[in-house]
Amino acid sequence: MKVGIIGSGGREHAICQKLRDSNKIDKIFCFPGNAGTEEIAENINIDVNNFESIKNFILDQKINLVVIGPEKPLVQGLVDYLEKFKIKVFGPNKIASQLEGSKIFTKKICQKYKIPTAKFGIFYNKDEAKEFLKQTNYPTVIKADNLASGKGVYISKNLNEGVIAIDEIFEGKFGNAKNLLIEEFLEGEEMSFFTVHDGKMFKTFGTAQDHKRVLEGDRGKNTGGMGAYSPSRLINKNLEKKIITKIIKPTLESLSDMDTYYRGFLYTGLMIVKNEPYLIEYNVRMGDPECQTILPKLKTDLIDILLACCEQKLNQINIEWLNKKSLCVVLCSNGYPDNFKKNVEILNLGKIKKKENEFLFHAGTFKDNGKIYSNGGRVLNFVSISNEFKNAKKNIMNNLNILNWDNGFYRKDIGYKVIK
Ligand code: AMP
Ligand code: GLY
Repeated sequence: MKVGIIGSGGREHAICQKLRDSNKIDKIFCFPGNAGTEEIAENINIDVNNFESIKNFILDQKINLVVIGPEKPLVQGLVDYLEKFKIKVFGPNKIASQLEGSKIFTKKICQKYKIPTAKFGIFYNKDEAKEFLKQTNYPTVIKADNLASGKGVYISKNLNEGVIAIDEIFEGKFGNAKNLLIEEFLEGEEMSFFTVHDGKMFKTFGTAQDHKRVLEGDRGKNTGGMGAYSPSRLINKNLEKKIITKIIKPTLESLSDMDTYYRGFLYTGLMIVKNEPYLIEYNVRMGDPECQTILPKLKTDLIDILLACCEQKLNQINIEWLNKKSLCVVLCSNGYPDNFKKNVEILNLGKIKKKENEFLFHAGTFKDNGKIYSNGGRVLNFVSISNEFKNAKKNIMNNLNILNWDNGFYRKDIGYKVIK
C-alpha cells in the first residue's frame, strides 16, 4: 500500500515513523516533509497550496491513502477537493474544519448546544471592542478569529494592554480581521484531549499537557508548543466522561444538524477548573508536539486505525497503548517565536545513538548535500517513554547535551508539574 502525508512538522514525522513501522505499507510520500521524513519516506517538493498538483501526483502514483497533518489545508477544503477524485483521505471536511478555522463558529455552537466555555462577546470594530474593555474584568482574553498558529491570542492584564491587542488584530497582524472575540479569563489547568473519528463513532486517542509559553515557568509569548507530556496529570474516568458528554457529543450533534460529520483526529483544548472541563478551542488535527508525545505509546498499527476511519469501521478496531509515561522537549531556533535565523547547520546529529525508548522527530529541518540545516522556529523534538516522567526527561536531556546546538534553545522545565 502507498500512503501520502501532507505537512512538514514534527507531527508529520511522528505519523510517518509510525506508518513506516507497519508491515502493510510499501511506500510513503511526504508533501513536502523534512530531513527526518526524508530518511524513511520520499519527500515531494510540491506547493501544498496547489491542490491540483497534489491531486495529480496522488492519482499518477496511485496512492491509496492521504493523511493531512496541519490545519491549513483542512480549513481550505483539501479533503473535499480530493474526495471529488475518489481519493481516500483521512481528515475532516471543510465545514467540520471550521471548528478550528473560526473561533466564532465554535463559540456559536457552544452557545446553541450549551457546551461549557468561557463567556464571550464578538466585536466587529475597534471602537465597540475598546468600549467594552472599559467595563470588563482583568485579565481578559482577546482573540483574532482566524487561523494564527496559536499566536493570535492575547491575555491582557489591563485596559492599556487590551487596547494594543485590539489595534494589532484589526491592523491585520494575523491576517485580514473582520472581527475579534473578547473572552472571560478561565483560571485552571489546561489539557489536550484527543479523539479519532470515523464519521459515525469515535474513540479516545490519549491526553497530553502542552507547554505553550516560550519561557520557563510558563512565561513569555505563546508559541506552537515548547514541549509536552502524556498522559495529562488531570485525566480520570469521571473527567473523561464529562468531556465526552458535555463537550464532544454535543459538538458532533451540531455537525450532524448541519448535515455533516467528523472524520479524523479531533483535538479538544480544555481548561479544567475544579475537575470541570471548559472548551478553550478545537483543533481539527493532532497537536504538535502532542502527537510526537502520544504516538510512540501506540501499540495498534496506525494504518489500521486510519483506514477504519475512512471506511466507517472504527468500531472493529481495538486501540491499544503502552502503559508508559511520555515526554517531549522541543528544540527551537534562537529568537522563536519572533525572528530567527534559517539555514543553520545542525552538527552532531550523528552522535546521538537513540535507544529503543527514545525518539527524535524533525520539524523545521532540511537536508542538502548530506548535511542537515534548520529552516523553522521549532526544529527538533526529543521524545522518550518510560515508567516515570523523570527517567524520560533524563534520557532527553542526555541527547540534547550531546547535540549541543548553539543556534537553539529549549525549555528545561518541561513536565515540571509531574516531576518533583
Ligand atoms: P487558543 O488559541 O484559543 O488555544 O489560545 C491560546 C492559549 O491562550 C490557550 O492555550 C490558553 O493558554 C490561553 N487561553 C485562551 N483562552 C483562554 C481563556 N478564556 N482563559 C484563560 N486562558 C486562555
Ligand atoms: N500544541 C498546540 C497545537 O498543536 O495547536
